[in-house]
Amino acid sequence: MKPATKQAAVSSPNLAWLNLPNLPNPLKALFAGYLLVIGVGLCMAGLQIMLTHGMADGKPGLSVNDIVYSYYGDRTHSKLESMLNGAMKANAPDEVRADIIGWVHRGAHKDEWDSHFKGVFAQHCVACHSVVPNIPNFKNFEEVEKVAATSDGESWQTLTRVSHIHLFGISFIFFLMGFVFSFAVGVPKKLKILAIAFPFGFLILDVLSWWLTKLNPNFAYFTIIGGIGYSLASTFMWFTSMYQMFILSRNGKVYGNAWEQDL
Ligand code: HEC
Repeated sequence: MKPATKQAAVSSPNLAWLNLPNLPNPLKALFAGYLLVIGVGLCMAGLQIMLTHGMADGKPGLSVNDIVYSYYGDRTHSKLESMLNGAMKANAPDEVRADIIGWVHRGAHKDEWDSHFKGVFAQHCVACHSVVPNIPNFKNFEEVEKVAATSDGESWQTLTRVSHIHLFGISFIFFLMGFVFSFAVGVPKKLKILAIAFPFGFLILDVLSWWLTKLNPNFAYFTIIGGIGYSLASTFMWFTSMYQMFILSRNGKVYGNAWEQDL
């Protein structure tokens, strides 16, 4: 970290405090408060991704498969089959699961439901799937039929909705985080520009990849690259900003106008 250059100190003597370590405390409180809440928010976002998309292929942990299942869909297996091999595995013995899956492969027709599967579901599934809110009620054939259908992933409507929310909401987070970070000192100018610009680029890549993955599952890798890319860039900005405001500031040095140094 270099202290104020002579030039900066001379040309803007009153702005020598305009950098993260030397900011007035009320401004530090504002920046740090925002960064803390955003930090928790980003962790929650990560957790939410693990819990929703992470289980999409029935196995815990986020993988390329989860992304393919979420956006491209699973065009050969139904949700019912994926769940019976995944999260619902413990709810029925293997023979029963194989029995149900066989019926799904035959097209999940109503005659077999009436004669046999209504009873199977009643015995193994409806204890939850008729009382727990917000999960399908398996007393009704129509709701079983829905999950027995093969999936073609997220609908275009959902993609449009989630895309615009993400683009508007997250770019705002990156804008403010980049703004705070722009007051950092001692970060080479090129690195600073890259760290500030990267999240926006990766955000576009991320959102674009959902649409492309719906068309072709190979694009799921872009989702991973985009997500890792902006996580790394924002983690770097987050820690650098916090470090400079609260630890680097303790040496009592005056660092000079950070913006002017980046001219
Ligand atoms: C112990 C309670 C319980 C039992 C028993 C149970 N389920 Fe579930 N099931 C859940 C819960 C809770 C969810 C929602 C959370 C999740 O997706 O993991 C769910 C979700 C599902 C879903 C996904 C529904 C959707 O639209 O997202 C399917 C399909 C499913 N269960 C099938 C079954 C089948 C088939 C059986 C019987 C063999 C069964 N479940 C037995 C609790 C249960």
